[in-house]
Amino acid sequence: MVEFSAMKSILATLVFALIPVSAQASMNPNTPPRDTHTFSNPQSITVTHVDLDLAVNFEKKSLEGTATLDVRRVVPGSGPLILDTRALQIGRVEASENGRAWADAKFKLGNVDQILGASLTIDVPAKVKKVRITYASSPSASGLQWLEPSMTAGKKSPFLFTQSQAIHARSWIPLQDSPKVRVTYTARIKTPADLFAVMSAENDANLEGPRDGDYTFRMRQAIPSYLIALAVGDIAFKPMSRRTGVFAEPSVVDAAAAEFNDTERMMVAAEKLYGPYRWGRYDILVLPPSFPFGGMENPRVTFATPTILAGDKSLVALVAHELAHSWSGNLVTNATWNDAWLNEGFTVYVEGRIVEAVFGVNQAKMEAVLGRQVLQENIDNLEERDETLYGQFDGRDPDDSFTQIPYEKGALFLRHLEQAFGRARFDKFLRGYFDHFGFGSITTSEFEAYLKTNLLDKDPAAAATVPVQEWIYKPGVPASAPKPQSDAFAKVEAAARPWLDGAAPASSIDAKAWSTQEWQHFLKNLPQNLGTAKMAELDAAFGFTKAGNSEIAFEWLRLSIRNEYTPAYERLEQYMVQIGRRKLIRPLYEDLVKTEAGKKLALEIYTKARPGYHPLAVGTVDAIVGWGK
Ligand code: BES
Ligand code: ZN
Repeated sequence: MVEFSAMKSILATLVFALIPVSAQASMNPNTPPRDTHTFSNPQSITVTHVDLDLAVNFEKKSLEGTATLDVRRVVPGSGPLILDTRALQIGRVEASENGRAWADAKFKLGNVDQILGASLTIDVPAKVKKVRITYASSPSASGLQWLEPSMTAGKKSPFLFTQSQAIHARSWIPLQDSPKVRVTYTARIKTPADLFAVMSAENDANLEGPRDGDYTFRMRQAIPSYLIALAVGDIAFKPMSRRTGVFAEPSVVDAAAAEFNDTERMMVAAEKLYGPYRWGRYDILVLPPSFPFGGMENPRVTFATPTILAGDKSLVALVAHELAHSWSGNLVTNATWNDAWLNEGFTVYVEGRIVEAVFGVNQAKMEAVLGRQVLQENIDNLEERDETLYGQFDGRDPDDSFTQIPYEKGALFLRHLEQAFGRARFDKFLRGYFDHFGFGSITTSEFEAYLKTNLLDKDPAAAATVPVQEWIYKPGVPASAPKPQSDAFAKVEAAARPWLDGAAPASSIDAKAWSTQEWQHFLKNLPQNLGTAKMAELDAAFGFTKAGNSEIAFEWLRLSIRNEYTPAYERLEQYMVQIGRRKLIRPLYEDLVKTEAGKKLALEIYTKARPGYHPLAVGTVDAIVGWGK
């Protein structure tokens, strides 16, 4: 009997071992789904610390030097260490038991996968504690952008910045590039003597102190690899409060400090809701306009696009968003990219709460209505399988998972829970969640289990009003979802009505007090085919073609493309060549290629713009315009 059951379990184990790991995960509810976007094997041997010693070579567009990794065996033995790389030149690999005596280690680069890059498999004897890799990054590294001086504000010095999320850290550091693996890091970065280096870590130098081209950094908290970040350029610093400040090129730093001087208030608001800020300083680095994102939540220093420097603080919700990631994302991290909504949905929710606390409930409501509209536009265009909060991106590029689904659908789900359980209880729940999982990386199922125990089961009547499974695993938005509303927008619609009905000229629309968001709502909701006469009338009344605000200009340029309003085309070209932020340029290319004439114009503009775009933006736009085909 005993023998028989032992036999059965051996057999079961054997059969189980033959099934691919990804399938096992979905069969066994106790095995969290594994991260399929890494070659690495942290379940056997885990990297715990990364020490970088890199020289920044602007001539060769390469980072050159060593990465020394501390490793900890999870499973005893001498199995290999597997790392992720992409287009790295590996010179030498050494291993050490004590960090003093080093011996060459055998290594092998695997075949290149278009999405994942190549594995680096290193033989490490059982007692090895450190592995040192001598390497250089490729000039076309997906996680780096090397800018000519002409692409900076100062026009005199080159600039380099990294963007590691989602799986691009591996293009500049050989490591276990999975959000489930957390590391501390230290770095020594050598740059041309007149340039300054910033990393997502504590900086050795007095922030305003001398620049000598030799900088060291330390990140004491364990973070996922996608949060390791570096920028090098003619970067100045200006403090805003005791623990906040801005980094930017010298000609930008004053404007940036003025724009963002509510950052400390945002931190205080977030701390009041979700507990202490865990990362010490919070600075914002304003990058040149080719930065492909609005913002990136690199710990201690958010990287941001200059397109939010509107001059009137109207676009600083982006800072609230990146700051919010200090809790949702950086403190509690998605374990795989299928769980991205745990980062972005929670962050959009927290962003809304910060905006509400600092700028008032009406501002937060306007942003929620705008968010609901872009979510709907997205849902109308996505395949159903891409509309679930829990994503299905195995075998696909995780960068493609960042649609409005994880962001706005995720946030709407949390607002539904807030509504059902009441703010007091939901705030307490969320704060507890950040404390409970702090400095950990979790999956959607781990969240579900925590939600059940700590919220749903405590009030079954309230829980019955929120279709949690539908939210997470079904396409679309549940019928019972909250419906964001804004009185301010209702007024905008009423004010525009007489003009739209042909009963009054555009100049009679009383828009003097409209905020950026009211303008966005107005422009977004105009009829698609307004006609050139009405476009010209609007332009004469409000000067949209010359609008300095990047979001207002964006909506106007979309309308201009749809209506073939050619007086705006010069601005269109200038905008698309100057700005590399994907959210602002991708829809313009998509709109253009819908007509033959537009496609020709798109190619003309892109020919000029492409050399200045980041590798990620190039990938996106190449596909839209059919570049090289
Ligand atoms: N973490 C994201 C940026 C990101 C996402 C980089 C996916 C790489 C892959 C960041 O927090 C973000 O969401 N930025 C938004 C701004 C925000 C206000 C919605 C952006 O860049 O537009
Ligand atoms: Zn985000």
